[in-house]
Amino acid sequence: MGTFISNSPEATFRFGEKLGKAAQPGWVIGLDGDLGAGKTHCVKGIAAGLGITERVTSPTFALVNEYAGGRLPLAHLDLYRLETMKSILGAGLDDYFETAGVTVVEWMDRWVGGIPPRFIRLRFVVLDGDSRRIDHDDFGD
Ligand SMILES: Nc1ncnc2c1ncn2[C@@H]1O[C@H](COP(=O)(O)OP(=O)(O)O)[C@@H](O)[C@H]1O
Ligand SMILES: [Mg+2]
Repeated sequence: MGTFISNSPEATFRFGEKLGKAAQPGWVIGLDGDLGAGKTHCVKGIAAGLGITERVTSPTFALVNEYAGGRLPLAHLDLYRLETMKSILGAGLDDYFETAGVTVVEWMDRWVGGIPPRFIRLRFVVLDGDSRRIDHDDFGD
């Protein structure tokens, strides 16, 4: 376990970038923390770290956004809007457990299926002002 203190959106982006550079095939990165905690900012950094230049936006209408063109493909899921256990399982996150790409999941706490075999958990806590604490599994940084 590690802890990173971010004092700006840019610092959160750079933390994500480091994670994206370290990411290996099959990694599932779960991001939890309140709305506005910086999860999507971090995902943008992860994409940049993977060398993805396409603009990353929240998967609000689509359940999953997929990005090619980087060192590894990236799938971005957000479980926030899913209400029932059936719809959450219907997101099919487990289909991503065995891919050669990297999967990032906002609101991973909502997932009711099994734990991914190569799982990195990030927990975002909002501190004063623009400060955030990110508690994270080790990822070889
Ligand atoms: N240290 C920080 N890290 C990330 N975002 C921050 C930080 N300080 C302020 N913010 C702001 O908080 C918001 C985070 O938004 P977002 O990344 O979409 O959060 P989430 O996906 O967790 O809801 C943005 O408006 C961003 O500018
Ligand atoms: Mg978000």
